[in-house]
Formats: sequence, structure tokens, C-alpha cells
Amino acid sequence: MARVAIVTGGTRGIGRAICVALKDAGFSVAANYGGNDEAAQRFSEETGIAAYRWNVADYEACQQGCARVAEEHGSVDALVNNAGITRDATIIRMTHEDWQAVIDTNLGSCFNMAKAVFPGMRENRFGRIVNIGSINGQAGQYGQVNYAAAKSGIHGFTKALAQEGARYNITVNAIAPGYIDTDMVAAVPDNVLEKIIAGIPVGRLGHADEIARGVAFLVSDDATFVTGSTMSINGGQHMY
Ligand code: CAA
Ligand code: NAP
Repeated sequence: MARVAIVTGGTRGIGRAICVALKDAGFSVAANYGGNDEAAQRFSEETGIAAYRWNVADYEACQQGCARVAEEHGSVDALVNNAGITRDATIIRMTHEDWQAVIDTNLGSCFNMAKAVFPGMRENRFGRIVNIGSINGQAGQYGQVNYAAAKSGIHGFTKALAQEGARYNITVNAIAPGYIDTDMVAAVPDNVLEKIIAGIPVGRLGHADEIARGVAFLVSDDATFVTGSTMSINGGQHMY
């Protein structure tokens, strides 16, 4: 029987590429999304992957969404916490709402989703959780105290949960992408983006499938001894 994977924010950008890579790897994939029904419908038509709308910042919605996926696909073997947003502004201009929305959507979601699937993984003595962090959670970024804090939090969350999962054969890892050519990066002002690209040693933005290949490895049986790690995929922009 095919293993089951949930990918949050799976209908666009990096999440979409992850869904396709996991489907190609033999998973039965469920893609979650937040509100863009048109993109989700297009995604499902083009990929044949079912899409489920719920807000990952909402604890109850995550419990219900995961239960529905389990009913339709079977018990969840792999969770990819990918959904995320930016609300960039310097701290002088950033509102409390900008802060909270980014913390809840990017970091709170990891707790909400892991709470829903971890008990089943523990029972099955198998699980794979991959959390999508960011180079900006590792290095910080001007205009992103909310996002950098949330992504940095994801890296700590990953290491703590990896310790809890290890004895049950549940691995928990993070990927820290650099700048990838999705809608999220397209929203960065051109003059700022030019400077960012100039600082990437390989001289270009990354592609979503370059992140998806990392996820496919981490959820595979080739990665049985990899847990609590952060895989940086950033074109050499941040090395440490
Ligand atoms: N370091 C130091 N100074 C900086 C700076 C930086 N990285 N970026 C801008 N500044 C300076 C500017 O040079 C400018 O200085 P002067 O006033 O002396 O000219 C000053 O700060 C104000 O800059 P802006 O005009 O850009 O200010 P703003 O208020 O209009 O915009 C901002 C601020 C919204 C943060 C804007 O700079 C911005 O959008 N930056 C991009 C932030 C970014 O990288 N976001 C990533 C989004 S994608 C993502 O997050 C995915 C991922 O994980 C990688
Ligand atoms: P994107 O193109 O903006 O796509 C975001 C996806 O997340 C969409 O499917 C969106 O659904 C979904 N989403 C947003 N808020 C949601 C919510 N509250 N509930 C459920 N789903 C929600 O973003 P991306 O660039 O692919 O980024 C994906 C992840 O990688 C994010 O966590 C991001 O922080 C991280 N990342 C991106 C980059 C980069 O350079 N692009 C770099 C490092 C890390 P809708 O379509 O319904 O809005």
C-alpha cells in the first residue's frame, strides 16, 4: 500500500513541486492550501493530486483536515510543513497583526499539524516530518523580524521533536531554502532582489524542484539515520 503524505501549502510554489516529487516517489499525496481556490483547482487538474482547503494557523482546522485526509487516504506517514507567508516591514512599520500572522501561519502551523499526525505515527512506529525553514531563519534579514523569528523557531522545533520521535522511528528534519523563484520572492521589490541575487554565489534564484528533491530524500528509506538535521539548499548564499 502506498505511503500517505500531507504537504501544507502544496498547491503553489515550493509545495507544489514537493507534492509532485512525492507522488513520483510513490506516495499517495494530499495537498493543503489556504484560500486560493483557483490555483488549487488548476493544481489538481494538472497533477491529479487532491487539494484540501484549511487554514494551518487554526488548530481545530488542522485536526479536522488531517482526520479527513486520513479517512480518504489512510493513516498519514509523512508530513511536510511547507505553508508560509511573509509580511515584510521594518519594526517601526510592522504591526502587531503582521507579527502574529507570520508567527501563527509559519510556526504555529508546525505545532498544529504535528499534534494531529504524531500520535498515529507513534502507533505505527513510522513517520517522516519535514519542516520548511529558511535561510532567513538562519541568518536573519532586514525587514523580517517576524519571518526570521518564525523560521528560526522552526529549526528549534525540528530538533526538539526529532528527539521525541527517534525511539518510534519518526524522523524530523528541516530544509532551509535560500531564495527560490516563486510568487513569494516575486513580491520582493526589484531593486532589493537584484542585490540579493548578486549575493548568491551560484548567481541565480533556486527552483522549487531543487527543494523538492531534498524533501524526497528526507522522507525516503535512504534517510533512516537522518534526524534533527537542517539541510541548507541555498546556492551557497549562507554557509556555516
Ligand atoms: N541591510 C541594511 N540596510 C538595508 C537593507 C539591508 N538588507 N535593506 C534595505 N536597507 C536600507 C535601505 O538601503 C534604505 O536606506 P536609506 O534610507 O539610507 O536609503 C533603508 O534601509 C530603507 O529601505 P527601503 O526603502 O527598502 O525601506 P522600505 O520601508 O520601503 O522597505 C522592506 C523595507 C519592506 C523590508 C524592503 O526593504 C523589502 O521588501 N526588503 C526585502 C526583504 C526580504 O528579503 N524579504 C524576503 C522575502 S522572500 C522570503 O522571505 C523567502 C525566504 O525565506 C528567502
Ligand atoms: P508561495 O508560492 O507563496 O505558496 C504558499 C503556499 O502556502 C500556497 O499554497 C498557499 O495557499 C499556502 N498557504 C499560505 N497561507 C496558508 C494558510 N494559512 N493555510 C494553508 N495554506 C497556506 O510560497 P513559497 O515560496 O512556495 O514558499 C513555501 C514555503 O517555503 C514557505 O514556508 C516559505 O516561507 C518557505 N521558503 C520560501 C522561500 C522562497 O524563496 N520562495 C525560501 C525559503 C523558505 P494559497 O494558494 O491558498 O494561498
